Amino acid sequence: MAKVALVTGGTRGIGRSITERLVKDGYKVAANYAGNAEAAGKCAAELGVKAYQWDVGDYDACAAGIAEIGKDLGPIDILVNNAGITRDATLHRMTRQQWDDVIRVDLTSAFNLCRLTIEGMRERNFGRIINISSINGQKGQIGQVNYSAAKAGLIGFTKALAQENAKKGITVNVICPGYIDTEMVQAVPEKVLEGIIATIPVGRLGKAEEIAGCVSFLAGSDAGFITGATLTANGGQYITG
Ligand code: CAA
Repeated sequence: MAKVALVTGGTRGIGRSITERLVKDGYKVAANYAGNAEAAGKCAAELGVKAYQWDVGDYDACAAGIAEIGKDLGPIDILVNNAGITRDATLHRMTRQQWDDVIRVDLTSAFNLCRLTIEGMRERNFGRIINISSINGQKGQIGQVNYSAAKAGLIGFTKALAQENAKKGITVNVICPGYIDTEMVQAVPEKVLEGIIATIPVGRLGKAEEIAGCVSFLAGSDAGFITGATLTANGGQYITG
């Protein structure tokens, strides 16, 4: 029986590439999205998946979404916490709303979805949880105290959850993409982005498919002994042990 995967923020950007790759790998994939119905409809039609709309920062909405996927596809075996937003501003200009929005969508969402799926994974003695963090959670970034804090939080969350569930056939890992060619990165002011690309040793932005390949590996059977790991994919921009 094909395993069931949920990709949050799975209809655009890196998430869409992850959805596409997991479909190719033979999983039954549910793609969650927050609000862009046009992109979700296009993704669903092109990849042959069902797109599920809910706000990953809302615990009750996550519960309802997971229940719906359960009815359609079955219980979730592979959870990819990919949904994320930026609300960039230097701290001295950042509003409380910009802080709260990013923490809620980028970090609290992982609590919500893991909390709602972990008991089933533990009962079935199998699970793959893959959290999508960021280079900016590793190194910090001007204009992103909110995002850097949330993404660094995901790394600690991963390490703790991995230890809690290691004996239950569940692996929990985190991927830290660098600057990937998506709408989120294209929204960075042009001059700033040029400066960022100049600091990437491979000399280019990453491709969403390159992150999807990392997810595919961590979801697969070859990665059964890897848990609590941080997989860095940033073109050499920030090299860490
Ligand atoms: N790297 C290096 N320097 C940066 C920078 C960056 N990413 N962002 C801003 N700066 C520098 C600017 O060059 C500028 O320096 P100078 O005064 O020496 O020219 C200084 O910081 C202030 O910048 P601004 O003049 O732009 O000030 P602002 O208040 O108008 O805007 C800002 C500040 C909101 C941080 C804006 O510059 C910005 O949006 N920067 C991009 C931040 C960023 O990198 N976000 C990543 C988004 S992509 C993502 O998050 C995906 C992922 O996981 C990697």
